[in-house]
Amino acid sequence: MAQIYARITGTGSALPERVVTNADLEKIVETSDEWIRTRTGIQRRHIAAEGQTTGDLATEAAQRALEAAGVKASELDLIVLGTTTPDIIFPSTACLVQHRLGANGCAAFDVNAACSGFVYALGIADKFIRSGQSRKVLVIGAETLTRMVDWSERETCVLFGDGAGAVVLEASGEPGIYATLLHADGGFKHLLYNPVGVSAGFTDEPNHGVRINMSGREVFKVAVKTLDSLVDETLQAAGMEASQIDWLIPHQANLRIIEATAKRLEMPMEQVIVTVHEHANTSSGSVPLALDYAVRSGKVQRGQNLLLEAFGGGFTWASALLRY
Ligand code: UT7
Repeated sequence: MAQIYARITGTGSALPERVVTNADLEKIVETSDEWIRTRTGIQRRHIAAEGQTTGDLATEAAQRALEAAGVKASELDLIVLGTTTPDIIFPSTACLVQHRLGANGCAAFDVNAACSGFVYALGIADKFIRSGQSRKVLVIGAETLTRMVDWSERETCVLFGDGAGAVVLEASGEPGIYATLLHADGGFKHLLYNPVGVSAGFTDEPNHGVRINMSGREVFKVAVKTLDSLVDETLQAAGMEASQIDWLIPHQANLRIIEATAKRLEMPMEQVIVTVHEHANTSSGSVPLALDYAVRSGKVQRGQNLLLEAFGGGFTWASALLRY
């Protein structure tokens, strides 16, 4: 039987209207545009309006991806949504989005893999298509991470933004996704976590103690090392050389981490999609936002090979190598 591949047939994204610059943040915490730019590459970020949810951004991104693919919501077999900031505890944000799109009846679920959420979701969707279970799948990465930012903590509040991206994957005889790799090591929980959930940490305080705890320097070191071996492992799994990759589309947390990965691949920065200056770290939203930007700006062309990678809380790390 001929091999079935999952091909990206459409991309979309959505960002909140409100933009907060580094200069704006200088007014609320002791920081500087210079520190933020040189340490992270971030210049501005989009912040969700009051009442605007992860599901709102996800729905908007999904509608654009469906339109680009020429696929009707009613044709979908599956929706997988990566997020750590779901609208409500249940139903899943994937179910909320499904109903708003009018895709009722298909399978729909969320994946929580922190910043690796979208790439995890893509890996899962790929398996559904390869196995013949699904033919048209919507994969979304969406977050309103700034909802759990402590705006008095300069170490974290300058780093994050809100946004969503989506792709439509369809079964095809042509590649398609060559390989996806998903990894996690829960032994690193203490370096990057939010202590509050339903079963632990929940209090009666107004914000329930919800906040991102991050040991930035330690996370940075493990991220660079882990992404180094991840790109080697991904090339090997796809049977490819680094020179065959046309574009690196990395998780957008820190420009210095992105540059280190590009160096490992001996790739000039001209072949790396960078949006961290505009979006900051949007967690699960980051890779699909960068991909949609790359497609709509005409950088990424049909037939080119793309390497997607992400690293985040858990720790989790994941990659996908595909022909667009
Ligand atoms: O997406 C999930 C994965 N997350 C990541 O990949 C994030 C990884 N980590 C990072 O990106 C970086 O470690 C940070 C951007 C978070 C921090 O950069 P760094 O170069 O590792 O700085 P640092 O934490 O070592 O702090 C250096 C100094 C400290 O002052 P002292 O101790 O040297 O006096 C901080 O207090 O910078 C200070 N600092 C700030 N100064 C101005 C920390 N935050 C700020 C700030 N503005 N916003």
